[in-house]
Amino acid sequence: MAEKLKNPVSESGSHPDPEDDLDYETRLSNAAADALQEFFLERELEDERLAEAQMGHITDFQPQEDWQLSQFWYDDKTAEILAREALAVAGEYGRIACVSSPTVYRKLVGLKSLNVEVKCLEYDRKFEMFGNDFIFYDFNEPLDLDTCLKNHFDVVIADPPFLSEECLTKTALTLKYLARDKIILCTGAVMESLALKLLNVSPCEFRPTHQKQLQNEFLCYTNYESETLNSGN
Ligand SMILES: C[S@@+](CC[C@H](N)C(=O)[O-])C[C@H]1O[C@@H](n2cnc3c(N)ncnc32)[C@H](O)[C@@H]1O
Repeated sequence: MAEKLKNPVSESGSHPDPEDDLDYETRLSNAAADALQEFFLERELEDERLAEAQMGHITDFQPQEDWQLSQFWYDDKTAEILAREALAVAGEYGRIACVSSPTVYRKLVGLKSLNVEVKCLEYDRKFEMFGNDFIFYDFNEPLDLDTCLKNHFDVVIADPPFLSEECLTKTALTLKYLARDKIILCTGAVMESLALKLLNVSPCEFRPTHQKQLQNEFLCYTNYESETLNSGN
C-alpha cells in the first residue's frame, strides 16, 4: 500500500529545503506508480475470473460495478426477494425475463426448478458468461428483439440504467413486447408518475437495497397486487 504523503511545507512555516521538494516528488510518483500497479493487478484478476466464468468453471462471479454503464448491484437480500417473487408469480412452468437486472437472473438460476425458463437481457457483454440465457439488449433499440420473444414471458423484471424519460419510455416498449402480463420495475421514486402512465405500475412497500448505497430514493413497482412485496419485508 502507498505510504501516506506529507505536506512538504515545514511545520515551522519556513520555506522547505529543495532536497525535501525532491523527496516529496519522488514519494508522490512512487505512490502514483503503486496505485496504478494495484489498479492493473485488480483488472487482471477480474479478467481472469471473467474468463473462468465464461468457460463455466466458476458460477459465482459478479463483475465489479461499471459506473459508465450505470451498474449498481442489488445486495443479496434484495436479489433473493425479487427472484422469489418472480418465481411465485411465474408458476411451475413459468418464463421469466430479467431486463438490465443480471443480479436477479443469477439468483433465479440458483433457486429455480428445471421447468422454469429464465433469460437475462443485458447490454454488458460480460454477462455472455450466462451462455444461451444471455440476450444482447440495448434500450436504445427497444424492439430489436427476436419475434419469438414477443409476449413470451409470464414475468418481466427490469431495472433501467438511467433515471430519464427517454430511458424509461424506451424500456417500457421492451417490457410490453416481452411480457404476457406481469411486470416488476425497479427504478427511482422520481420516475413514479411516468412509470404509472407507461406501464400502469405502482410502488410496493418493499424497498430494494444495493451493495453500495444509492443517493436517490429507489422503489419497486408492479402492475399487479403483490402480497409478498407489500408485507413489510
Ligand atoms: C441500474 S443497473 C441495474 C442492475 C440491477 N440493480 C442488478 O443488480 O442486477 C442498470 C443495468 O443496465 C445495464 N445497461 C447499461 N447500459 C445499457 C443499455 N444501453 N441498454 C440496456 N441495459 C444497459 C447495466 O449493465 C446494468 O446491468
